[in-house]
Amino acid sequence: MYKTHTCGELRAAHEGTEVSLAGWVHRRRDHGGVIFLDLRDRWGIVQITAHPDVEPEAHAAAIDVRNEFVLQVRGVVRRRPAGMENPGLATGEIEIEAREVRILNPARTPPFVINEDKPVDESVRLKYRYLDLRTERMARNLVLRHRVVKFIRDYMDAHGFIEVETPILFKTTPEGARDYLVPSRIHPGKFYALPQSPQQLKQLLMVAGIERYFQIARCFRDEDQRGDRQPEFTQLDVEMSFVEREDVMALAEDLFTRLVAEVVPAKRLQASPWPRLTYAEAMARFGKDNPDLRFAMELKDVTDLAQGSGFKVFEEGVAHGGHVRGLNVKGQAEWSRKQIDELLEFIRPYGAKGLAYLALTSSGEVRSSFAKFLAADRLQALQARLEAQPGDLLLFVADKPSVVFESLGRLRVHLGERLGLCDPNLLAFCWIVDFPFVVWSEAEKRWDPSHHLFTSPALEDIPLLDSAPGQARGQQYDMVLNNYEVGGGSIRIHDRALQEKVFQLIGLDPRVARERFGHMLEAFEYGTPPHGGIAPGIDRLCMVLAGEENIREVIAFPKNQQAADVMAGAPSTADPQQLQELSIRVVAAE
Ligand code: AMO
Ligand code: AMP
Repeated sequence: MYKTHTCGELRAAHEGTEVSLAGWVHRRRDHGGVIFLDLRDRWGIVQITAHPDVEPEAHAAAIDVRNEFVLQVRGVVRRRPAGMENPGLATGEIEIEAREVRILNPARTPPFVINEDKPVDESVRLKYRYLDLRTERMARNLVLRHRVVKFIRDYMDAHGFIEVETPILFKTTPEGARDYLVPSRIHPGKFYALPQSPQQLKQLLMVAGIERYFQIARCFRDEDQRGDRQPEFTQLDVEMSFVEREDVMALAEDLFTRLVAEVVPAKRLQASPWPRLTYAEAMARFGKDNPDLRFAMELKDVTDLAQGSGFKVFEEGVAHGGHVRGLNVKGQAEWSRKQIDELLEFIRPYGAKGLAYLALTSSGEVRSSFAKFLAADRLQALQARLEAQPGDLLLFVADKPSVVFESLGRLRVHLGERLGLCDPNLLAFCWIVDFPFVVWSEAEKRWDPSHHLFTSPALEDIPLLDSAPGQARGQQYDMVLNNYEVGGGSIRIHDRALQEKVFQLIGLDPRVARERFGHMLEAFEYGTPPHGGIAPGIDRLCMVLAGEENIREVIAFPKNQQAADVMAGAPSTADPQQLQELSIRVVAAE
């Protein structure tokens, strides 16, 4: 037997017990005679002492030991001498007096230090991910993720849901990204598409009468990588029959409220019940549909005050259907012109052409790029609208609404982080509802679904699909946590005629629609219950719960920003033989 105990469990009460432990050498110190080894396994760290006069052979073996060697140690639990306890270690009251030290496997010097939380270049961490996962932080994140998924499975089971696995080799399931395709050997020239989500299959499970389905489901999306995205990621995929929007939202809200209390008790929910914002309200107040509610600094519309104000930039901004909106950076009136210019550089990539400012110094003096153009009463009204007090810095952007929202929305988040307004222990969940059903794609010159093809429009808005599609609302809801969209769902279409109408609205040729989604249309004719669901992203949730800023920190073997696995070297070329069997000829490699 290698282990009678884990390295993390021994306490003063075990004094005198003979134990056998196994694990990795976390640290080795040679104190002139006595050798101290910190032995680590997944459960913790314990100190081993090897004395030359107590057990010369064990001591001799410990001389050759280096960090990350794999050892088995037999010994006796001793209380540490008074004053030598380590309160920073769970096992800090005791140590193991070694009787035998067996090297089970030596280790090369790791490419980075494992026993300290020091920044290491991420490409090295990913290449040696199996070593990176030995660090305390990564082990902690994997345990957290396990607890999250375990809590979810237990909760769903207790609420009458069953987990059903759905295929990975399937047909296109559009969620707004490119598909990953898998060539078929048996059907030359044909491809499976990896699911962007199990959307169609979970709806078909509702047709099948499952009523309450969930799955910890892997999804695949070929899209531009960001810190909160991975080409393959995991959703808690949920679908329910005979439900309305409120039922699905209530379930998800209860699940995650309880999950937080149980799995991350050190974190606090900002509000319960979770606030609910319409899409329009989220945009108007925060400039984005995934607002961080941990701090205020809300956007204020000053379009009416900008009109005819005498400041050309504002007037022109408003002239062509544009807006002028501003935010109040409390207490930062002393920021220099240079600092404000840096903020402008930050928002330029989002289309902003300028950033007008008004600083109200604590002595009551106004420093501004435009105040001289405005009459005193306008200036007063502007300050009142932004609830300005002495010491505040007001920033304004004039442009078309999409540019104003994106610039100020991102600027708000940037300032929130920079000014330390985002309490890391606060979890601000909220719901966003009443999204537009479709959005106009200027590039494609057509309406795109704002969620996915199977989301139902608000029933009272169905007539608008013919007259003013842009004004119809969808029965979609997004779950937002701090600065992230952590889940999305909707009530679905369960009627063939309405589904076909929506396909038509978004410009899907009826022949193509039948070819791609004929199975859905047909299924809708065999008694489909009203249904809806949601899919919280497990990786993003765990990222926020773990206090990490990158999704890769909560995934054991993630892809890098170029969607590559640098440890194994994937993607890689295929054997000519494999390609031949797949009837594939690669014309442009590298
Ligand atoms: P949606 O596309 O909104 O909805 O995705 C749901 C949630 O999945 C997470 N997510 C991602 N996480 C990591 N990397 C990605 N590339 C990525 N893309 C999405 C997000 C997101 O909120 N079938 C629908 C759900 C439904 O209608 O029930 C769907 O997939 O947290
Ligand atoms: P200008 O007249 O271009 O020197 O601009 C005067 C002030 O207005 C500067 O502070 C600019 O940053 C700002 N400004 C210019 N364009 C815009 C805009 N579209 N929105 C907000 N402020 C702007």
